[in-house]
Amino acid sequence: MTAARLRTRRELRAQRRPGSHSCWNHLIAAPLWPKHGVNLGTLLRTCDAAGACLAVPRLPWVPEALERGNTLRHRQCVHWVNGRVDRWLDRQRETGSAIVGVELTDESIRLADLPTARRRTVVVLGNEGYGIPPEGLDRVDIAVEIPMLGSGASLNVAVAGSLVLYKLAGLV
Ligand SMILES: C[S@@+](CC[C@H](N)C(=O)[O-])C[C@H]1O[C@@H](n2cnc3c(N)ncnc32)[C@H](O)[C@@H]1O
Repeated sequence: MTAARLRTRRELRAQRRPGSHSCWNHLIAAPLWPKHGVNLGTLLRTCDAAGACLAVPRLPWVPEALERGNTLRHRQCVHWVNGRVDRWLDRQRETGSAIVGVELTDESIRLADLPTARRRTVVVLGNEGYGIPPEGLDRVDIAVEIPMLGSGASLNVAVAGSLVLYKLAGLV
């Protein structure tokens, strides 16, 4: 292989969409109990790359955190979860969405075994401190874990969410 050349910003832009996508409505990353705004910003960027929307609770600090964290030119698709998160999840199920929990549980399948999403899929992510609470775990169809080799107990939530979104999108 000859020495690789970095593609220019202009070349990369030419391969991307010219404007924002209003709503993908196929994959929805759902950090429903968020703690750190910076992780929401990182997830928003992955959502754009992987063709996903972001669903977040309308907590007082979240809109500003998303505003600050969105380092992209265009507006991203955000679904606001008003009121109770468990009821929102129930509605997603009732309307035919698959609910995938990204969590280290004793029933989780490994990321490599997670198939590409064939229908609308909500990807539930846990709180940075306590993970997915029981009200969320009770509602997932399947839980997926990302295997880890090192000494850390878990990954950063935005990293975990990004890996799962890419797998569900069929991009890796
Ligand atoms: C920092 S972790 C929470 C760890 C928390 N201290 C606990 O014990 O559950 C935040 C979230 O990232 C996701 N996560 C982190 N590492 C993961 C892994 N290896 N596999 C699946 N999900 C993971 C989960 O959604 C988790 O709830």
